[in-house]
Amino acid sequence: MTAPPSKTSPPGAAPPAGPMARIMAVTSGKGGVGKTMVSANLAAALARRGERVLVVDADLGLANLDVVLNLQPRATLHDVFTGKVPLENAIIEAPGGFHVLLAGSGLVEYSRLTPEVRDQLASVLQSVRPRYDRVLLDTGAGISDVVLYAVSLADEVLVIATPEPTALADAYATIKVLATQQGRSHMHVAVNQTQRLGEGRGVAQQLQTVIERFVQLPEGGTVRINYVGEIPSDPSVRQAVQRRQLLMLSYPGSSAALALVNLAGKLPATIQR
Ligand SMILES: Nc1ncnc2c1ncn2[C@@H]1O[C@H](COP(=O)(O)OP(=O)(O)O)[C@@H](O)[C@H]1O
Ligand SMILES: [Mg+2]
Repeated sequence: MTAPPSKTSPPGAAPPAGPMARIMAVTSGKGGVGKTMVSANLAAALARRGERVLVVDADLGLANLDVVLNLQPRATLHDVFTGKVPLENAIIEAPGGFHVLLAGSGLVEYSRLTPEVRDQLASVLQSVRPRYDRVLLDTGAGISDVVLYAVSLADEVLVIATPEPTALADAYATIKVLATQQGRSHMHVAVNQTQRLGEGRGVAQQLQTVIERFVQLPEGGTVRINYVGEIPSDPSVRQAVQRRQLLMLSYPGSSAALALVNLAGKLPATIQR
């Protein structure tokens, strides 16, 4: 499959005046549930729908988007943060018709939220915003300061859960913290690694039930979950990771890839549509 001609301008091009990208954080309670897999493949699916998409590797300490996409960036977010290179030099084209801003892994200094990290991340997002229709933040798992701060910079949140009880409990905890600390009243939920059709909707319903019982927004009222779909557990996902290729490109007909295409269609349209 070849990427369609995209309206994406080359990395570093001057920002056009006008609409701003919708920023969506992809997060989860538990690690290893598929945030990076979903971010990268969703970006490809959205690009195929004609959107200009940027994925920011916001899992600053444990970044691995570069591994999944088999990219060796000349410059990373770290180099931008430290003023070594201009932002434009760190934005690169990924296979799949979208752009990425990679973090580079093993940067322990980003495991803590310092005022510098706060300012730098916010200012990077401000600068990229006018150039894209959608910015996906591939965040870390859990409710650490860094993760919560990255999520706080997003307009909307996609929580990745799985049917596994521990992942479900952690997804609940994440939603609760985002509701109570950030006042988020609406969150998208996708259920990854499902074993049978319809399992995802059941998981989302379970989450909604527990949330209605135990989570109250600061201003009163409850959180509404917008269930955007399930992604089946599919051996093609692991095979794509092994080959270090994007699932959407290497196994476009696989059940997981088709589910991600479907998921892309469930997200709210970007501002200019
Ligand atoms: N739908 C799926 N089917 C099969 N394996 C999956 C699926 N989603 C994720 N995985 C496996 O889980 C691993 C971790 O996914 P990843 O996206 O890196 O998680 P996270 O970013 O949440 O830590 C992947 O490398 C892949 O092997
Ligand atoms: Mg990840």
